[in-house]
Amino acid sequence: MEKNLERIKDSNLHELVVKAEDAASWIRDGMTLGLSGFTRAGDAKAVPFALVERAKKEKFKVNIFTGASLGSDLDKLLSEAGIINKRLPFQADATMRKNINAGNHLFVDQHLSHTAEMIRNGVLPQIDFAVVEAVSITADGMIIPTTSIGNNLAFVTHAKNIIVEINLDQSLQLEGLHDLYEPAEQGQRLPIPLTKADDRIGTVGMPVDTDKIRGIVFTKYTDSPSPIVPPDHETKEMAQHLISFLREEVKAGRLTNNLAPLQAGIGSVANAVLHGLIDSEFEDLQVYSEVLQDSVFELIDAGKVNFASACSITLSEEMMKQVYGNLEKYRDKLVLRPQEITNHPEIIRRLGLISINTALEFDIYGNVNSTHVSGTKMMNGIGGSGDFARNAKLAIFVTKSIAKGGNITSIVPFVAHVDHTEHDVDVVVTEQGYADLRGLAPRERAELIINNCVHPMYKAQLRDYYEEALTRGGQTPHVLEKAFSFHTNLAESGTMLVEEAKSYV
Ligand code: COA
Repeated sequence: MEKNLERIKDSNLHELVVKAEDAASWIRDGMTLGLSGFTRAGDAKAVPFALVERAKKEKFKVNIFTGASLGSDLDKLLSEAGIINKRLPFQADATMRKNINAGNHLFVDQHLSHTAEMIRNGVLPQIDFAVVEAVSITADGMIIPTTSIGNNLAFVTHAKNIIVEINLDQSLQLEGLHDLYEPAEQGQRLPIPLTKADDRIGTVGMPVDTDKIRGIVFTKYTDSPSPIVPPDHETKEMAQHLISFLREEVKAGRLTNNLAPLQAGIGSVANAVLHGLIDSEFEDLQVYSEVLQDSVFELIDAGKVNFASACSITLSEEMMKQVYGNLEKYRDKLVLRPQEITNHPEIIRRLGLISINTALEFDIYGNVNSTHVSGTKMMNGIGGSGDFARNAKLAIFVTKSIAKGGNITSIVPFVAHVDHTEHDVDVVVTEQGYADLRGLAPRERAELIINNCVHPMYKAQLRDYYEEALTRGGQTPHVLEKAFSFHTNLAESGTMLVEEAKSYV
């Protein structure tokens, strides 16, 4: 194990350096772990790897809490090792997904701003071991996180014990990038003093009681690159529709050419849509988001974005080389914060965010399903989309109008699982067009969504449904016995498209 004691400025802590296997051996059956890691960035790696190894010889189960999804295939490995009792608040791994849906371990799909609050107020079990990746430890015992902060501050503040993984692969240039602020308990809390995306309100590291640090492990692992795919024809079209909508807002005097701080969700679609702003007239943009994906750095490079705040940086391999190889170029344009602050309702509402997240499906009235395929099978989780949608100035959801080669329409009569209700959704966008739902009654919404957003393959089928629903009446007309017929068609015949409607194609 390569060591660099210079990264531990508090020399009293030098004697705590241990091997990952030794640190992992302190973790016992039934414990709760708070692991660093948010969307593949800044995850604790060596101790979880050692736990996976230990599981080959010994049976045990632990609760695993994180910021969001883990990289280095850790969610896959931990899930396959059979050592998870309960996982929260988010994951994005195919194997873990399979195990969750098979009921092999429990998963709590949680708003990402809620986890720290639930740790602080004791709703969740106390963390036995916080295992957090760090760049260094300062002379006054502050832990400096790496490429994500996620829930680390809540973990180390409220855990019984702390294990620090100092990752020598993570650049010392990350020091100074972070801004750590923990709100007081509810009832004794002052307003969070953040009024601009680039404000700094906290400390550059996590102040901890160093007596709780049980061990320090040196590691050298690169973060996993993000698997996002580049923009395609449909996502480029979606970006153009979004730009048209924003242009109308500027024309109406509700936005200026600098727009408002932008938030964009995880995944290829949100990344591609944000990337589309590169060719727009909007400039001097700011980002107040949860994850910074490639598109934010492309916009910084293009001189479009002048500041970006988030709790994690998740990049493709190529962009990682560019950003971490030239961090001095980006440092004064970036800040990383705890996810409790990036996703905090108070701040999202105060800043008036434009929030762009991806839906799996939405319905003709504007309810959105972001998480459950066909209503039952977990995809990834709600992540921060609910934190943002409920509180943003503009809650925008994007999705391609069809999936799986056209066997699925992403616009259905009634979503089979609701993550964001019609009350929280302002604008929906597909490659077909956008529907601005603000101030519209359900019947107006249905007309606009069917006209503007639905793929031509499914227009007649949705219109048939809606017209039959109108004969039944109601504020929000439905034919309840047919509300999930698109989903049942898919389950029974492999496609949502019905034979009669195919004649309209
Ligand atoms: N029904 C079933 N599957 C669907 C679907 C639908 N209506 N719409 C899309 N899919 C499938 C796609 O076919 C694709 O499947 P594949 O992986 O087998 O190819 C998969 O869902 C991902 O879709 P893709 O179009 O590649 O989009 P993405 O990478 O942008 O991910 C979400 C989309 C919704 C899964 C993702 O954004 C997510 O998990 N969102 C919830 C969390 C969130 O919004 N966080 C934001 C705050 S950071």
